Amino acid sequence: MKTILSFLFFNLVIFTSTFSLLSAGSDVIYDSAGNKLLRGIPYYILPLLRGTGGGLTLSQNTKDACPLNVTQESFEVNNGSPFTFNPIVLDEDIIRGAYPVSIEADVVNPCHDSNIWKLTAAVANDDDDERLKNNKDKKKKDDDKEVVPVYIVTTGGEFNKPESCFQIVEDDMMPGLKSYQIQHCPFKCGSASTDLTCYNVGIVKDADGNGYLGRTDAIFPVVFTNSFGTFSQSAKISQLSAKVSTFRQLGKK
Ligand SMILES: *[C@@H]1O[C@H](CO)[C@@H](O)[C@H](O)[C@H]1NC(C)=O
Repeated sequence: MKTILSFLFFNLVIFTSTFSLLSAGSDVIYDSAGNKLLRGIPYYILPLLRGTGGGLTLSQNTKDACPLNVTQESFEVNNGSPFTFNPIVLDEDIIRGAYPVSIEADVVNPCHDSNIWKLTAAVANDDDDERLKNNKDKKKKDDDKEVVPVYIVTTGGEFNKPESCFQIVEDDMMPGLKSYQIQHCPFKCGSASTDLTCYNVGIVKDADGNGYLGRTDAIFPVVFTNSFGTFSQSAKISQLSAKVSTFRQLGKK
């Protein structure tokens, strides 16, 4: 399994580095196969760096907990759930860098809300705020245990609302390999604030080691892998795990 994945990754590096020669200067976002990222098509969102966990997925601590949290698969062989990208301002089929997009889970949501990502306050009381501020300002020695951030990404958002306003920007983590950083940019969707900041969205671990997608100072370089159109809008979460098992079996051959 390991061998096969490394082989795929190697191919990916070769292919995308060739490709980037052709596309220099473009502000268009590309998937991991070098195709333009398209509106409404399901993609897995995978970490660029190996050994840092799997793709982004949705999770629920208990059966009735809503809205769903966007989290990271703990095992890197798991691709997670498919997500779609939809331009907010431009009526275009391609997704451009640094333009506001709505990001949506392409699954049947057990919660009675939308599949649209939004930033949700997860920690409300002042003590926790203070703790978070200290965490940010001072470099703590025992910093390996990060606390859950004030804002985590959940479903239940609304199209073109500040809390659901994201963008994708190219990063230069690995020369020749296109990878991207997802950011939350409230001001690009009519936020009343004068703050023109876009915040990095990345993985923040809770005390138990669960990886949540949330607002963080850290970068989280990702690539987008077409989920092969296997899932219609009506894919179920249970079907998604079936897909992961299928993927594993294929890998064993
Ligand atoms: C999402 O994560 C937060 C913070 O850990 C937690 O309080 C909440 O219950 C989780 N939501 C779901 C749906 O599990």
